[in-house]
Amino acid sequence: MSVREHMRRLLVALLRIPLFYKILLANSLIVAIGAVGGTVLTVWHVLTYPDDFHYELIALFAVLGLALSFGVNYAVLRLALTPLSRMQAVVDGVRRGNLAVRVPIGRLDDEQFVKLIETFNQMLATMSDNTHELRRLSQRILEAQEDERQRVARELHDQSGQSLTTMLVRLRLLERSEDVAQARMHVQELRKLTAQALDEIRRIALELRPKILEDLGLCEALAWRADELNAGGGVRATLETSGMEHRLSRDLELALYRVAQEALTNVARHAQARSAQVTLRQGNGRVTLIVEDDGAGFDAESKLAHSSGLGLAGMRERLALVGGTLQVRSSPGLGTHVIASVPAVL
Ligand SMILES: Nc1ncnc2c1ncn2[C@@H]1O[C@H](COP(=O)(O)OP(=O)(O)OP(=O)(O)O)[C@@H](O)[C@H]1O
Ligand SMILES: [Mg+2]
Repeated sequence: MSVREHMRRLLVALLRIPLFYKILLANSLIVAIGAVGGTVLTVWHVLTYPDDFHYELIALFAVLGLALSFGVNYAVLRLALTPLSRMQAVVDGVRRGNLAVRVPIGRLDDEQFVKLIETFNQMLATMSDNTHELRRLSQRILEAQEDERQRVARELHDQSGQSLTTMLVRLRLLERSEDVAQARMHVQELRKLTAQALDEIRRIALELRPKILEDLGLCEALAWRADELNAGGGVRATLETSGMEHRLSRDLELALYRVAQEALTNVARHAQARSAQVTLRQGNGRVTLIVEDDGAGFDAESKLAHSSGLGLAGMRERLALVGGTLQVRSSPGLGTHVIASVPAVL
């Protein structure tokens, strides 16, 4: 390596040292040069002109020293603070809505600024990721809302609509019937149909917003869910609770309820299980909900990674919104454990 190359490397290394040391070094050098230069000048002057003292020479030396000090400090600070102007330009870009901008790292930037720029760029990347995630989530929430509306519309049309149409037919028959016994039979039929329609509407309303959850709390609502599953006949569901003496916040109750609802729906739809157990417990500042079944199980890892449905992924997202986490432990043939854990907010 040539001497020139060595010098160049030394200069780059010097320029990259922290700003504090740059200024200290530059000023120490200026003072050292001033002191040595001043002494040399004075000795030379006294020896050359022993009888005649030239004050203007000393004044010129002082002015030159000041100018050098100013020039060196200006150059060092100017060079060292260029990363701040680059950061300012990026901040302006972000303020205009461009989250893809990053601060470039210069070859001569000192180490502290390099670290600052790297942290700043990392923060920008996280911010941009979060914004994308938020957009994706909002999109999915909108889609879920649309799906829910479609489902309710379908149920209203297929079930309640059907019952009401049949009632209309019966009413018309009743209108025409002249025989009392026949009329009574139509009325009885109508009463049955009305009760059925009422049940259906009540069920749709309950699915949409379980009143029991607001009125009686999470434990009662989960007990009702388990009863519903038991009434279906396929799976024997049980509920166990502990430490749940007080009601949780509304958001938390709703999130846990929806997670249990989806997990139980999955048990009924996919597990071919004989029994399912719902456990809700509170302790150490956390609430844990476990829905376990003894069914077919599935490859949870790959389903969670690739699932595009709103089931498992939706549970995870819903829990994340209340600061909670979701674990799914399952493998083919070994049943499934869905475990939700959230910080308890009363
Ligand atoms: N308890 C379970 N037992 C067996 N398989 C399950 C269980 N829960 C989930 N699965 C499997 O994981 C898959 C993904 O479940 P997820 O709830 O995300 O979607 P889905 O139920 O198919 O559709 P949806 O979006 O309507 O919920 C299911 O299709 C099923 O194969
Ligand atoms: Mg599902």
